[in-house]
Amino acid sequence: MSEIVLETRDIVRDYHIGGGLFGTGRTVHAVKGVSLKVEKGKTLAIVGESGCGKSTLACIITMIDAPTAGELFIDGEKVDIAARRLSPEMRRKVQIVFQNPYGSLNPRQKIGDVLMDPLVINSDTPAAERRDRAMAMLTKVGLLPEHFNRYPHMFSGGQRQRIAIARALMLNPRLLVLDEPVSALDLSVQAQVLNLLADLQDEFGLTYVFISHDLSVVRYIADDVLVMYYGEAVEYGPREAVFSDPQHSYTRTLFAATPRADVESIRKRLAKKAA
Ligand SMILES: Nc1ncnc2c1ncn2[C@@H]1O[C@H](COP(=O)(O)OP(=O)(O)OP(=O)(O)O)[C@@H](O)[C@H]1O
Ligand SMILES: [Mg+2]
Repeated sequence: MSEIVLETRDIVRDYHIGGGLFGTGRTVHAVKGVSLKVEKGKTLAIVGESGCGKSTLACIITMIDAPTAGELFIDGEKVDIAARRLSPEMRRKVQIVFQNPYGSLNPRQKIGDVLMDPLVINSDTPAAERRDRAMAMLTKVGLLPEHFNRYPHMFSGGQRQRIAIARALMLNPRLLVLDEPVSALDLSVQAQVLNLLADLQDEFGLTYVFISHDLSVVRYIADDVLVMYYGEAVEYGPREAVFSDPQHSYTRTLFAATPRADVESIRKRLAKKAA
């Protein structure tokens, strides 16, 4: 039987903005009832134009934000953020990587400390072991032991994204939410980081929610695809089905408007994997 790592049922998120003391304000319906399931080791890609609610949904899945309504299950266990009963165990299971790693890295913190921090905060791992694990993770993501004592500004964008991925993996999460993880990178570097993510997924049996507006990237990494449009899932299914026979007119427009990226090396890797 397949293991469902992530499930959402009718997730809704409204934002109330403005209003003041006597004003009525306005409600933004950012996510309007999204249901999805992701099996262990699989990648669900979430696609859609700017403002359609992708990051809002990502924050709910990552337990950063509470939904207005609906249910979230991680490993079959219901998550109730509002009730403040979230165990550190549960929090550890889901980690997130953002588009701009520079924004999420403290410029005054050495990379070694960036990687050891999650262990300091969330576990009682002894100092020597923390160091060993951080070193091991550096090499896992394609960086070098001598990078341990360097600061974020000494790295390229692609390397910084590798650091963010390494940090997210330090606590052995079950699920990694990747919010536009390669969108800010050059095409050749995008392919390298995507290949790294695929390798890590194989090695650790990771489950991914991969948010992107680039369909050529999605095509090569996703098992399932969910297309969002104004807060709704207008399309959801296996990659091949969605790409070969899009049902919703929005999806067809989206497909028509997407430029092809250079995904040759990803294609090669997949061919190699299938051989
Ligand atoms: N904290 C907030 N307060 C009020 N409105 C918000 C907040 N966060 C998001 N929104 C609104 O919710 C909607 C969805 O935003 P969200 O950031 O989830 O979109 P997105 O799909 O991630 O877009 P992008 O592709 O630009 O990252 C937008 O209309 C946005 O303005
Ligand atoms: Mg976003």
